[in-house]
Amino acid sequence: MAMTAPANGPRRITILGSTGSIGCNTIDLVEREPDNYCVEALTANRNVILLAEQARRLRPRIAVVADPTLYHALREALSGTNIEAAAGEAAVVEAATRPIDWMMAGIVGAAGLRPTLAGVRQGAIVALANKETLVCAGELVLREVRARGATLLPVDSEHNAVFQVFDFEQRDRVARIILTASGGPFRTRSLAEMRSMTPEQAVAHPNWRMGAKISVDSATLMNKGLEVIEAFYLFPVRKDQVDVIVHPQSVIHSMVEYIDGSVLAQLGTPDMRTPIAYAMGWPKRIATPSARLDLASIGALTFEQPDLERFPALRLAREALDAGGSAPTVLNAANEVAVLAFLDRHIGFLDIAKIVGQTLERIPRIEIDALEMVADVDRQARAIARETIARGRVIN
Ligand SMILES: NC(=O)c1ccc[n+]([C@@H]2O[C@H](COP(=O)([O-])OP(=O)(O)OC[C@H]3O[C@@H](n4cnc5c(N)ncnc54)[C@H](OP(=O)(O)O)[C@@H]3O)[C@@H](O)[C@H]2O)c1
Repeated sequence: MAMTAPANGPRRITILGSTGSIGCNTIDLVEREPDNYCVEALTANRNVILLAEQARRLRPRIAVVADPTLYHALREALSGTNIEAAAGEAAVVEAATRPIDWMMAGIVGAAGLRPTLAGVRQGAIVALANKETLVCAGELVLREVRARGATLLPVDSEHNAVFQVFDFEQRDRVARIILTASGGPFRTRSLAEMRSMTPEQAVAHPNWRMGAKISVDSATLMNKGLEVIEAFYLFPVRKDQVDVIVHPQSVIHSMVEYIDGSVLAQLGTPDMRTPIAYAMGWPKRIATPSARLDLASIGALTFEQPDLERFPALRLAREALDAGGSAPTVLNAANEVAVLAFLDRHIGFLDIAKIVGQTLERIPRIEIDALEMVADVDRQARAIARETIARGRVIN
């Protein structure tokens, strides 16, 4: 297994999605120990200005925007440097194939699948924030991880917490994984109130500052559903061994229960630099500037069962995991379309889960054993979800 310490000079790294919340937090840590890293590639979707600023500071060999129309803007923004500029989806994947030791997979959505796989295929350590990669193609990604000897390290705070307390030597002694959920901004809202919630209210997460898509997913609890699927692929447990509990303070990031009744947990303040640093330094810990946990000032930690009536997305995700095959791919694609439509104010908050449910009902489940099949199912699900939205056919 690849090791992390920059024993023979700086570690060569690539940051996919460098302009996002995860990407910026990763760069913050890189810039605190600049001599330990040598940056190969930075990638973004459309944010040329921030990408170019980051590139001028970190001096990667290449900077890439996924939107091909922005090639000239990027080149212009990098003029006077010797940093290569490239644009387009294929260019993002190409940049991700360039040899590195460590990659941050920080793109949001299924768009991250191929570039993340490119990192896996070179046998690198891949710090996985992009949970959609595992949701839409879990079996295929794991097959590649095993075949290429890559190392997948979970960055999602819940999975990172589980990773820190999961005893892989005694996997048969694990009773269950308990993922904690903050409950999101609408935890205490009634269904009637949720109907009129705006994108601004949905992205205002009580504990974490994150990108818009994951923030909406947190408000619907789809995020926890995606994480249940992600946990099933990351850890050697059965599907029914992944539980969810709502814990509004987000202090316990997740837990593992063992057959003797012991429950091990990882705790911390809600700062993604802690799990990112764990994945950067693994197997050693590295220092972060994250605020320290002050339990006395927090006072009380509370817990409750998730309410599947008000948050049906969590139930849909579980059902998709149980169904297997193409169902999680459909779930993820329909959710991406619906979240975007909600952010663009074309549908209401409660319509998101309805569109996902209706898309799942309309697409027959098939077995998936090739990447092209994932792409086909993803396209089909997006088309159906978009059609449902365009025709205003969301059934209330
Ligand atoms: N934020 C968190 O605290 C957090 C916690 C746990 C897990 N995650 C997971 O980490 C991933 C990233 O989340 P985030 O919150 O950092 O998202 P974000 O702030 O929206 O950033 C997403 C990044 O991906 C890029 N991107 C978007 N669409 C793309 C496309 N089609 N092709 C290539 N690049 C694209 C964006 O570029 P532009 O800036 O140019 O749009 C940006 O760099 C998600 O899978 C999320 O679920 C995030």
